[in-house]
Parts: sequence; C-alpha cells; structure tokens
Amino acid sequence: MEVKRVQTLACNQLKELPPQFIRLANERPENTKAMEGVTVPMISLSQPHNLLVKKINEAASEWGFFVITDHGISQKLIQSLQDVGQEFFSLPQKEKETYANDPSSGKFDGYGTKMTKNLEQKVEWVDYYFHLMSPHSKLNFEMWPKSPPSYREVVQEYNKEMLRVTDNILELLSEGLELESKTLKSCLGGEEIELEMKINMYPPCPQPELALGVEPHTDMSAITLLVPNDVPGLQVWKDNNWVAVNYLQNALFVHIGDQLEVLSNGRYKSVLHRSLVNKERKRMSWAVFVAPPHEVVVGPLPPLVNDQNPAKFSTKTYAEYRYRKFNKIPQ
Ligand code: SIN
Ligand code: FE2
Repeated sequence: MEVKRVQTLACNQLKELPPQFIRLANERPENTKAMEGVTVPMISLSQPHNLLVKKINEAASEWGFFVITDHGISQKLIQSLQDVGQEFFSLPQKEKETYANDPSSGKFDGYGTKMTKNLEQKVEWVDYYFHLMSPHSKLNFEMWPKSPPSYREVVQEYNKEMLRVTDNILELLSEGLELESKTLKSCLGGEEIELEMKINMYPPCPQPELALGVEPHTDMSAITLLVPNDVPGLQVWKDNNWVAVNYLQNALFVHIGDQLEVLSNGRYKSVLHRSLVNKERKRMSWAVFVAPPHEVVVGPLPPLVNDQNPAKFSTKTYAEYRYRKFNKIPQ
C-alpha cells in the first residue's frame, strides 16, 4: 500500500491543513497553551555525586522528565548525528521509499509515517525513521539508511555514548531508590539492554495551531534520551498543564518511560508529553529508546513493595506490555 508522506504533502505549498490533521478543539495547541514562567528541571552531570542523586530522584519523581548537561558527548558528534539524519530526509522520495516499514505486518524498522492508531482517526504531522541500535548481536544493517554513507559509522559512535550515559543515569536512578547502583540496568536485561533510534521529521506546517506533531503519550521504554534540532516543540505534562521545553544547545532531554514507572512501583513517573510543529521551519528530533529485551519480565521491584506500598502494577514480559499498549488493552 502506498503511504502518503507528510513531507510530500508539506512540499506542495499547502495553504490549509488537510482535515485528517486538524485536531479536536480540546487537543489543539491554540486551546491548550503551555504554562508561562515554568521551566523543566535542568541537571548538570558534573555536580557532586550526592547532590546529583538527589536532583535526579526529585526530577524523576515529580516530573518524569529532566534536561541534562555536562554529559560528555561532544558537540561535534551531536552535530554529525543531526547532519546524517537530515541528509537522509533530503534524499529523493523514491529512494527513501525503498526503506518503507509496515507496522501493520509487524515490520517496525525503517522509514514510516505512523505508529499508532487514534480513535478520532486523526493523524500526526510527522515522518520518521526507526531502527534498532543495540545490542550489536541483534543488528540488521539492512534496516539502516545506506545514504549518506557515513550514517552507520556516526550512529554507531553515538550508540557508544548513549550506552555510557544510560549506565550513568540508571545508576543514579537506582541510588535514588536506595537500591544497589546496578539494579535497574540488570532488571532491564543487563548487557542485553536494547537501544532503538527514532528520527522524527516534522515538516513546516501551514496551520500549526490546529495540528500536533506527536499526540500526548507516555513512552513504553525505561528511559528515552532525546536531542532536538533548534526548533522548539516538545511539551511535558505537569500539574494539569503543558510545560514547554526550551531548546538548549548540546543538552540531552531525558524522559522516564513506563518500564521505570513499573519497576519503581510508581515512585518514578512516566511523563506524558506531546510535540508541536512550526509554520516556517522543519523540526527534527533524535530519540533513543532504552528498553529491556522482549522476553524480560518487568514488575515492581520487591524492595519497593510492602504493606504500606502494595504493588501498583502487574508483572509481565515486555513483549506482553508492548502488545497491550499497541492494541490499547489495559495493562
Ligand atoms: C516523541 O516523544 O515521540 C517526540 C518528541 C519530540 O520530537 O521532541
Ligand atoms: Fe515520546
């Protein structure tokens, strides 16, 4: 089946947004503006360890979201990651289509235009590229862009940095729960932990006040590490309001996902978030989902369950969790 790409639509100098992109009134950015004067937690990884554990624990508990700086990833590598992603999306449409995915038949990897079904039959103003990045033993490079030629090398370099930062954050989050520092990583499969890359491409949109780039959702991963380009658009839900996340050069956005909410028995919050689009400029973001292998069983950690804090979530494999989330079956 031929899929209509948002990028193709956007190229045609549209004056008006096609109806399938017009959100219901109660979802539209123009009616659900972000709160003024509130900013998300910003955390430097270079501060004293005890302070860092405390700050990350607070941000993960109260927001489920924080921005990190001083993570040690070079500006040059982040720029290269952004360059190869942009180059892929500027390839001729025909060439991009050779990588087309097909989520309806279980083929999630590749170039795509929509991953979830929406009850109101509305669609999101975004195209994306999705592929596994780690562990090396499970990679199929056929699913990675072959153009630009440096794509593979750059993304593998970025993967190394993502593994390092993941270890660091999972240790800090474990300590925040008063657990041994290796606990969370080992519950997520240890060295078999999976990293997936999703490049989001939001073309300029004729009526951004009526559309959403990505509708409100929580990530099913354990954590998500994201870098955007310099066009803002991400918003996180806090105390019944949307809060806009400002762009900060070289910073990394960290989302707590569903698997950490479950493991921590609700002490860490899986953050509801959405993204908006821009009238003049294309927005892009590079999200890395950190998740357990599908066969790993995830449930509230026993030390966090007791008479005062009964288990808030059921225990199941990540495969089962995914299946339910995709099919909107209660967990
Ligand atoms: C997402 O959460 O799916 C996208 C977020 C973003 O583009 O900033
Ligand atoms: Fe997300």
